[in-house]
Amino acid sequence: MTVTRDSTRSTVGEVIVAPDELQRRVTELAEEITQDYAVRDLFMMGVLKGAVFFVADLIRQVDLPCELDFMAVSSYGSLTDSSGVVRILKDLDAPIEGRDVLIVEDVVDSGLTLGYLLRSLRSRNPRSLEVCALLVKPHQRRVELPIRYVGFEIPNRFVVGYGLDLDQRYRNLPYVAALEDQQERFRRIT
Ligand code: IMP
Ligand code: MG
Repeated sequence: MTVTRDSTRSTVGEVIVAPDELQRRVTELAEEITQDYAVRDLFMMGVLKGAVFFVADLIRQVDLPCELDFMAVSSYGSLTDSSGVVRILKDLDAPIEGRDVLIVEDVVDSGLTLGYLLRSLRSRNPRSLEVCALLVKPHQRRVELPIRYVGFEIPNRFVVGYGLDLDQRYRNLPYVAALEDQQERFRRIT
């Protein structure tokens, strides 16, 4: 399904995850990761650009010597509907063979992007490969994905903020909010 979301017609609506909830959950996830990776060789991989804020907050609370790297991927297709055809724009700087890789993603919607990343990284023979996703939209998962760490399960709505964008905007919001169509808002308040 292709949904058009026009950044000129949309406005920031209801807050879905508030700043204090984000920080509290990030702390919990970091504690879990610190325990789980205590005797491993943690290599955190943030997916640009959406996961930048999340991975920066998370890794600073992980109490282990670990490495950080980034990948940038782009899905072909419309603005907000992921087609599952993924292109690597920036690859990892180092090989991950034998490392304990943790993919850090902003949101898993259909799961197609993550499915591609998992296949691509698995073929490089890491010792382990896990996923930490800040947000998961459970109803749209088109492929079965093993997501070890989930921040929040959110409703099936398009959200922005804390790294997530609409057409490259709104990443800087300190919370996660749903988008609202201005016409809909107008109908609601009149
Ligand atoms: P998927 O391949 O359908 O799981 O989509 C994953 C990618 O689509 C994410 O990494 C985001 O870049 C983008 N995306 C999916 N849902 C949202 C959303 O609600 N807000 C902003 N970006 C989203
Ligand atoms: Mg993304």
